[in-house]
Amino acid sequence: MKITVIGSGYVGLVTACCFAEIGNDVICVDHDQRKIDALRQGKPTVYEEFLPELLTRHGGARLNFSWDLVESVRSADIIFVAVGTPQSADGQADLSYVEAVAHQIAPALGNGFKLIVNKSTVPVYTAERVRRTLLLSGAKPETFDVASNPEFFREGTAVTGFLYPDRIVIGADADRSVALLREVYQPLTTGAYRETATAIPPPQNALAKIRLIATTTKSAELIKHSANAFLAMKVSFINAVSNVCDAVGADVEEVCEGMGSDARIGKRFLKPGIGYGGSCFPKDIIAYRAVAIENGYHFNLLTEIMRTNEEQRLRFIAKIRRTLWNLKGKRLGVLGLAFKGGTDDIRESPAIYIIQALLREGCIISVFDPAAMKNARECDFGSQLKFAEGAYEAAQGCDALLILTDWEEFACLDLVRLRGELKHPIIFDGRNLYSPEEVAKAGITYVSVGRPDVSPEGLPVASL
Ligand code: UGA
Repeated sequence: MKITVIGSGYVGLVTACCFAEIGNDVICVDHDQRKIDALRQGKPTVYEEFLPELLTRHGGARLNFSWDLVESVRSADIIFVAVGTPQSADGQADLSYVEAVAHQIAPALGNGFKLIVNKSTVPVYTAERVRRTLLLSGAKPETFDVASNPEFFREGTAVTGFLYPDRIVIGADADRSVALLREVYQPLTTGAYRETATAIPPPQNALAKIRLIATTTKSAELIKHSANAFLAMKVSFINAVSNVCDAVGADVEEVCEGMGSDARIGKRFLKPGIGYGGSCFPKDIIAYRAVAIENGYHFNLLTEIMRTNEEQRLRFIAKIRRTLWNLKGKRLGVLGLAFKGGTDDIRESPAIYIIQALLREGCIISVFDPAAMKNARECDFGSQLKFAEGAYEAAQGCDALLILTDWEEFACLDLVRLRGELKHPIIFDGRNLYSPEEVAKAGITYVSVGRPDVSPEGLPVASL
């Protein structure tokens, strides 16, 4: 199949590389010439496992990059639209890029039937609006159809998430379009791809059989927003529970174990911490709420999910203040900048939010992140923040160490060495990466989320 992917951000680039990997001829289009130049040289523009391999494997052969949208659309059977849908001032998704692309696609239609597919996360009715825009721009109705095929992969595991998904959702109102999309995904749904000798290895929890769910465009659009909102709700729910645990002296990790063992609930996305972030959950929930209101329904639960998320960050800062007393002039080591482990993405990162709040309080911060330092250096944090070369360096001479991102390497630090680096042996763990007993045994006071604080013998109790 000849596929064109418009947009080379996280979603567009991974989609393009993976479609090439499962045997299609792909052109990935972006108007940013610098990105196209880099990608043509095989340099990934986002940090994602397996992306460099796929670029090397298919770049210049089955996978090409271009800034010529019209030409790329002309040569394609299916066009996936994966441009950004940022948040506009009123909370709604800003769909102006999607609309602009539709206007640009229209003149390239006419040589045979083409299927235009929304891959970006978009609100309900977007496929309908894209269809109308194409018609307004002069496209003949018999030359195209518009479908919805939301993507569910996660940053950090995007390539394996694409190749081994839990399900594939296609929303299309014409049988012909459903058939085309079924054909594209066949190597994944039949399991043929995983049998190929060079297949990217499946993750541990990969399903043997991948279901393709065919539905209407409206339902597909709602599936995406509802799935993200539900996951964010799970995170906010367990964070709210962690606050009750803090209040009564219970252990939220044990509560999670007990709750999550109910198959109807499940343990995934039930990890307490400093709240969710990233480029999807915060934006999507606001957009979902806006679209519900626009259609006459006040989805108040979504407002509460966001409020709990915001509160979680503030509560963590309050714990630090309660333990360290005055924050002005305190030296803090910080581990983590990315919104979660496994990515260099700092968009809407709770770590960044907390760092900025502490800098405003007059703290002096030394921070380390295994992948997100480059992105963070582009922000203006002022002179009170220094970038360290590693976790132990970040801790050197500090009044306390903060863990703000769940990187695996932060979960297996040498605690005794860390204790030696710190001026005062205190760790605030916003991701519950350690067992409290283990940290206390290393002679460190440990304050985490939803679990009683622990102090080694002889040291004052962390919080009052
Ligand atoms: C999310 C969804 O999980 C994907 O299914 C979806 O495709 C994607 O958004 C999108 O719309 O494009 P992602 O933003 O990459 O993926 O990140 P997640 O792994 O879902 O994590 C989101 C946030 O929730 C992170 O800040 C993470 O630290 C936090 N989180 C997650 C928790 O605090 N606890 C958990 O148990 C799980």
